[in-house]
Amino acid sequence: MQFIRFSDLCSQGRARGQRVFIRADLNVPQDDAGHITEDTRIRASIPAIQMALDAGAAVMVTSHLGRPTEGEFKPEDSLLPVATRLGELMDRPVRLVTDWIDGGFSVAPGEVVLLENCRLNVGEKKNKPELAKKLGALCDIFVHDAFGTAHRAEASTYGIAQFAPVACAGPLLAAEIDATTRALAAPRRPLLAIVAGSKVSTKLTILKSLAANVDQLLVGGGIANTFMLAAGLKIGKSLAEADLVNEAKAVIDAMKARGAEVPIPTDVVTAKTFAADAPATVKQAADVADDDLILDIGPETARKLAEQLMKAGTIVWNGPVGVFEFAAFENGTKVVADAIAKSSAFSIAGGGDTLAAIAKYGIEKDVGYISTGGGAFLEVLEGKTLPAFEVLGRRAAG
Ligand code: 3PG
Ligand code: MG
Repeated sequence: MQFIRFSDLCSQGRARGQRVFIRADLNVPQDDAGHITEDTRIRASIPAIQMALDAGAAVMVTSHLGRPTEGEFKPEDSLLPVATRLGELMDRPVRLVTDWIDGGFSVAPGEVVLLENCRLNVGEKKNKPELAKKLGALCDIFVHDAFGTAHRAEASTYGIAQFAPVACAGPLLAAEIDATTRALAAPRRPLLAIVAGSKVSTKLTILKSLAANVDQLLVGGGIANTFMLAAGLKIGKSLAEADLVNEAKAVIDAMKARGAEVPIPTDVVTAKTFAADAPATVKQAADVADDDLILDIGPETARKLAEQLMKAGTIVWNGPVGVFEFAAFENGTKVVADAIAKSSAFSIAGGGDTLAAIAKYGIEKDVGYISTGGGAFLEVLEGKTLPAFEVLGRRAAG
């Protein structure tokens, strides 16, 4: 995919003295008092802002925060806590500007301002052209750096890219595009995907799309239970979606037809109740009792998965394979995390639970690329062309 990189514009001196509008994803979690509980997205957005400042641009940054009602300002929807945190992290003042769509505020070269929650603007969600044109008129260069929101076609993520004089990808968006292209479009094989988590239904499109591309599709969690049902195994009272067994069979058949496979767990860790202190029992997959809950893959299955991960050329990881939050049921996910860390494969991981597992086992530095996207990452795995990529590609083409 062709797109203009903001880093190229900067190194060519084309951002000097220009009004640069950065759409970041600063949609961070907050507690009831509004305190930011996790600031990865703010940290991940700083390189683009710093790049623009270093290039001598006058910098405007905006983001959405939550899903507020357009045109109805409420204090809890304000980006003020984000402005404060950004200022602390960058060690410089970051002024928050409200009522900004018609301009009328000043920002000097070498200065950065944060424009209040863009989802408060009427017409944002539906990408109304009247709004998008106003956003485009605020800048000389539009920088899309909000990968977490790249699957949305809103005025500040899509419309502005149509109307701004120049539209390009910021360093975070470019890194995400490069990593997913490397993993999915031109992977070193064998390409292995781990798709786990509670529900097949929410990940069915991903499974179908990956089934046409990957060499091995490793399933875990509730998804694996549904595949065990499809393979004729009993799963007791484990979480599964019985109505999707035929879809699971179709995925298995599609993989087989290509000489690829979906390995079904041969052993599992079970309990009688879903609790951290529930006694854990390792058993063969064929021996699951009617009152059992499967809460992790067994050690033999985990060892086989680890062997395959060690031999992989590329690994895509979305979802823990067991209830890793409970010590008795974390082994599968821990073994998978260790194997990904040790493997020489290029690995890419994404999704909230997956990031929590990566943090728990401290393998951040050993994963090739950790995506900042939730829904956006899943849509990339579904094989969709995200609106952000499409519009930036079109603007690069002229
Ligand atoms: C996210 O948190 O997944 C992104 O910021 C996108 O938010 P949205 O789902 O409200 O569009
Ligand atoms: Mg969200």
